[in-house]
Amino acid sequence: MREANEYLLGTDDDELRRLGFQHQVWAAEAAAAWERGGFGPGSHVLDIGCGPGYAALDLARLVGRQGRVVGVDVSPRFAAHLQALAAANGISNLTVEVQDVEELSLAPESFDGAYARWVLTFLRRPEAVVGGAARALRRGGRLVVHDYSNYAAFQVAPEDPAVHRVVQAVVASWRDGGGDPNVGTRVPRMMHQAGLEVVSITPLARVARPGDALWQWPRTFFDNFLPQLVANGYLAEDERRAFDAVWAARAADPGAWLATPPMVEVVGVRR
Ligand SMILES: C[S@@+](CC[C@H](N)C(=O)[O-])C[C@H]1O[C@@H](n2cnc3c(N)ncnc32)[C@H](O)[C@@H]1O
Repeated sequence: MREANEYLLGTDDDELRRLGFQHQVWAAEAAAAWERGGFGPGSHVLDIGCGPGYAALDLARLVGRQGRVVGVDVSPRFAAHLQALAAANGISNLTVEVQDVEELSLAPESFDGAYARWVLTFLRRPEAVVGGAARALRRGGRLVVHDYSNYAAFQVAPEDPAVHRVVQAVVASWRDGGGDPNVGTRVPRMMHQAGLEVVSITPLARVARPGDALWQWPRTFFDNFLPQLVANGYLAEDERRAFDAVWAARAADPGAWLATPPMVEVVGVRR
């Protein structure tokens, strides 16, 4: 059963597992971003759209007992998962609030840092989130955003029209759902308008070959999302089969590789 206000990719067990794997393959980039955000022992950090909480758990370990992490997500199911994860790991400096991040209601100037990864891309009003986060930061506090800047540039080599067709369908359904698969391009301006000074814009681009863990990252996304694209009329069943055949051929090709959809990490500071 779908939750009310559920985001585009859903909150079922498959999506929960996918988000766990996704965090695993992007954990090094997250850790580097947290360094640039100045998050460390003792910090009070907000995790915006924390999902089932894999990053929030690592953040809680990073900030330690003197620090505090507050996760916010619209999904009660993901929030409950994060609470259970924290309890199972003996983490007591992490709390979760079920809130719509476009209407963030937090004590002003109460956080040293805020993190939003793969959330703004799904929202109609991402600028409201950046504004809410800016208000929740103390002076000197930093907002770190990690999001897509050009989703359609995802590539699997050797190239094939079946892959381009699927990427086009993903982008169309994403936009129709009110999101922006290139939202990262707009984030520095949003930060500026929210009174934050942009201190860094870092490209996040990686390649993977068959056999790499990262090769499975887009595959797990397509496994979960393509049935929905077919059910909602964005993709024909034979187009999906053509894509699967190309993917299987590339997975067995030692000359194949993929380029992840370009993303940016943007860091802004409240002066
Ligand atoms: C792709 S997941 C990313 C989760 C987490 N940030 C991570 O990096 O693992 C997107 C998350 O945004 C949440 N979300 C989407 N729209 C939201 C909204 N309006 N308010 C709060 N959370 C929202 C979803 O419930 C989901 O947990």
